[in-house]
Amino acid sequence: MSDLETYLASFDAEPGYLNWAAFGPLSPAVRAEAHADAELLGTGRRSGIELVSARAAEARGLLADQLGVDADDVTLQPSTSTGLQHAFAGLEGTVLLSPREFPSVTVGARRAQDMRGRLRVAPIDAPDGFVTADAVREALTDDVTAVAVSAVDYRTGYLVDLPALREVVGDRLLIVDAVQAFGVVDADWAAADVVCGNGYKWLRAGRGTGFASFSARARERIEPVLSGFAGMDGDLSDTEVQPPLPGAAAYVVSPPDPLAAARLATAVREIAGVGVDAIAVELRRRADDVFALADRYGVPVLTPRDRHAGIVTLVPGPQNAAPLGAALANHGVTATARGGTIRISSHAGTGADALRLLGDALAEVSAARAHTAVVAPTDR
Ligand SMILES: Cc1ncc(COP(=O)(O)O)c(C=O)c1O
Repeated sequence: MSDLETYLASFDAEPGYLNWAAFGPLSPAVRAEAHADAELLGTGRRSGIELVSARAAEARGLLADQLGVDADDVTLQPSTSTGLQHAFAGLEGTVLLSPREFPSVTVGARRAQDMRGRLRVAPIDAPDGFVTADAVREALTDDVTAVAVSAVDYRTGYLVDLPALREVVGDRLLIVDAVQAFGVVDADWAAADVVCGNGYKWLRAGRGTGFASFSARARERIEPVLSGFAGMDGDLSDTEVQPPLPGAAAYVVSPPDPLAAARLATAVREIAGVGVDAIAVELRRRADDVFALADRYGVPVLTPRDRHAGIVTLVPGPQNAAPLGAALANHGVTATARGGTIRISSHAGTGADALRLLGDALAEVSAARAHTAVVAPTDR
């Protein structure tokens, strides 16, 4: 088997699992690593504890390779939101963002505005939440110091064009929430100044596996306001509080959880072994299969067909949303129903059986719709 085939064969969640944008069932390798490292930490042996502790540096190195930056630019974080909060809290000027972003972005920026009064949040007018280079250009003013955006929009699945945004923002900071894209989208992460993510969705690493990178330019302009003792440059036994460490390590509060770091390192090594470009191709194919099913059963789709990753959001219409939600549940499909839409998120390793279950559910609702259309006039 090729590395890609081995990777695809490692997906062993329930057949109808189409909710990777919400949570990624842990990969077998991650589960095995978690067990082994937990056992090591149970012995109390120094060598075992040191071995597991070393996984944090390993994870940072592996992430740096994927992000195209130095390991010193990368920090481990409890979550995407925590990384974003470090970025917003220390920022000054005006940050542009779409009000339709996931609340990790909107709430994080707003709290930073309220906390220090040095940051102003201004909206990008992005219809449907598609943050395009044109929409950002329209919103830019002289006081804008940063633009914050999700690489893949959690609601619609829209995939932003990071190099195009970089060109428009110029020397300003580009802050990217990568949680719906990292590991499955072959993005130019180095185009961003801050990249925040987490491994519990597409990386299959479980919660607590957050990370954030901060470029040299970001570190010049973002004060490490939330820096904790683990981000301090000095001896911990010193009673004087010393300044934050140079480098991205300043944006850290306390030491990382080594078990979480071990899961993250394992997951990133898995995708590195296959190549994100190969995974991205498979992911798009699975999403294209979902588009095809939606088309076959006449269900409108919110996701742009030319700029997407793994998320395909169906808009079945007010009358069909509840029946489709029920049909999906009855056919054993797990997806996210929200505000009249149904978000289907398949992964590269999603099998034909999952798509068949989805097709069965769509067919059922489509047949019921046709039946209502035929019988309705005589019923009146
Ligand atoms: C775009 C986006 N950002 C952030 C988050 C939250 O991430 P975390 O739990 O790592 O803070 C989510 C969760 O669904 C999300 O979709």
